[in-house]
Amino acid sequence: MDALKRRLNFDPLARPYRWLEYLTFGRALERCRFHFLPALTAAKHALVLGDGDGRFLARLLAANPDLHADVVDISPAMLHLLNERLTPEARERVTLHQMDARDFMPPETSYDLVVTHFFLDCLAEPELAALVDKIASRLQPGSIWVISEFAQPRGRVASLVGKVIVSVLYRIFVMLTGLETRSLPDHGAILQGHGFRLAAERQWLRGLLASQLWQY
Ligand SMILES: C[S@@+](CC[C@H](N)C(=O)[O-])C[C@H]1O[C@@H](n2cnc3c(N)ncnc32)[C@H](O)[C@@H]1O
Repeated sequence: MDALKRRLNFDPLARPYRWLEYLTFGRALERCRFHFLPALTAAKHALVLGDGDGRFLARLLAANPDLHADVVDISPAMLHLLNERLTPEARERVTLHQMDARDFMPPETSYDLVVTHFFLDCLAEPELAALVDKIASRLQPGSIWVISEFAQPRGRVASLVGKVIVSVLYRIFVMLTGLETRSLPDHGAILQGHGFRLAAERQWLRGLLASQLWQY
């Protein structure tokens, strides 16, 4: 298992990631990521997992001057870009953890916000369940978990097209990063099983993309 984890490498994707995203989905993923930003301005201590090049984190810190964040990402190159994107003042409010999120032990301090944009799909269901279990133990009642993810659209044709798109994306990520996972985990069932409730959701591209706000 440890050998598998060591092979996971998102570094080669770090610089082209943003442009590949714009080329394939235009601004749709960004709309998804930023949709619930206005609802997050009261948060004080965030856990941000797999934020990649930091586009969301930079906006979150700018919108919320009181927020401190623990940021976990396995890729040094992604974290380098993320750090470069932050203002010197914002950097003071961020602690970077370059590590596999599956090994992350949340500190004793509690979080009132968890952020995962297009990250949960990098985990297998048992890994996600273990991670949610660890994180839930560090949350206050009323804490928010904001999520962007690919999803399965409804309707026969849309669902078929969605399956093809998700499967092609997985093939590309498996090839480029060594990702082991090949299907979307059912994060909703896992979160509900840990006491979260879906408070709000917005879908795009006929349900292929979803932004969700879960409350603990
Ligand atoms: C698909 S990218 C998503 C980036 C960004 N959050 C976004 O909205 O596009 C996945 C990110 O999660 C990180 N990542 C993937 N698996 C990880 C793991 N097991 N532990 C920590 N970070 C991981 C990658 O390095 C990358 O930055």
